[in-house]
Amino acid sequence: KSVEKRFVWMPDDVIRTFPKRNPSSHKSSHGKGLIVAGSKTMSGAAIMAARAALRSGSGLLTVAMPEEARLPIANQVIEAMYAPCPSHEGEFAGTLPVQLNFDAIAVGPGIGRGEGSRRIVETLLKAEAPLLIDADALFHLAKMKDQLKSRKYPTVLTPHEGEMARLLGLPIEEVANNRFYFSKQFALEYGVHLVLKGPFTICTTPAGEQYINPTGNAALAKGGSGDVLTGIILALMMQQKSLQEAISNAVFVHGKTADNLISNKHSSVDVIASDVIESLPIVYKSIA
Ligand code: APR
Ligand code: MG
Repeated sequence: KSVEKRFVWMPDDVIRTFPKRNPSSHKSSHGKGLIVAGSKTMSGAAIMAARAALRSGSGLLTVAMPEEARLPIANQVIEAMYAPCPSHEGEFAGTLPVQLNFDAIAVGPGIGRGEGSRRIVETLLKAEAPLLIDADALFHLAKMKDQLKSRKYPTVLTPHEGEMARLLGLPIEEVANNRFYFSKQFALEYGVHLVLKGPFTICTTPAGEQYINPTGNAALAKGGSGDVLTGIILALMMQQKSLQEAISNAVFVHGKTADNLISNKHSSVDVIASDVIESLPIVYKSIA
C-alpha cells in the first residue's frame, strides 16, 4: 500500500515560497488574468473575486460578465478592464467574445445555472490557459467532468463539500467523512489540483500530494468568502511557477487574513467578505 503524502502548509512554507517582486518588474511580469463571473442578481460575486485578485498582485485583470451586470461591477472594480458579453435573462447567453490568451482564467462566481453559463464553462474547458473552476461553474462541470481529462493546461477546482458531493454524485455526509480520500481520488482520476474547502482546507495536487491549511475560522462562513478565495488563487497562480505553492499560499493568506480580523477589531459574527479583501495587505506586508 502506498504511503500517503500529507503535509501541513506552515507559515515558514509561505515565507519560503512567496514570490519576491523584482524591483524593475512591469505589469505584464505579474500576469494577465481573466475572471468570468457575475450575473444580474449576483454581481457581487464578480466584484469580490476581482477585487481580491487585484489586492493580490495581478498585473492586468479583465472581468467578463453578462452585459446586464457590467455597470455594478465596473463601478466597484475600477482597476480592471471589462468584457461585457451577450446576456439572456440576466445570465451569460453562452458566447464569450474574448480572445482567451491569458496567463490564467477563473470562472464561476455568480454565473448562475442556466444553459448559457453552462456553454461558457464548456468553452473555457478548451481554453489554452491554466483554468480555475469555482461555484456555479462546478455545478455545470459535474455533468461534463470527463472533459477535464483532455485539458492540456493545468486545472484547479475549488469545491466546498456540497459541490464536491455533486461532482462525485455522492451524499454530502459521505464526502464530509472522507475528505482526504475523495479529494485524492478525484485529483488523480481527473488530473486536477483540487481544493476541498472548509475548516482545514485540503489542497491536493494532480499527483495526489495533500497540503492541509492551518488558517481560517468561522468568520469565513459567509456568502462571498469563496469568491474572495477564487480571486486570490487566480492572482497567485499567475505569479508563482509552482501551482501547488501558489494554491497553498492563497488558501493560507485567505484564512490568515480572517484570523487577523477576529484577533483585532472584529468578532467572527461581524466580518464580511469585503473586510477580508481590505485586510489582505496586512498579511502580504508580513510575507511579501
Ligand atoms: N473555518 C475555516 N474556514 C471556513 C469556515 C470555517 N468554519 N467556513 C468557511 N470557510 C472558508 C472555506 O474554507 C472557503 O475558503 O470560507 C470559504 C467559503 O467558500 P464557499 O463555501 O465557496 O462559500 P461562498 O462561495 O462564499 O458562499 C456560498 O457558494 O458555491 C456557492 O452555492 C454556493 O451560493 C453558495 C456560495
Ligand atoms: Mg463558493
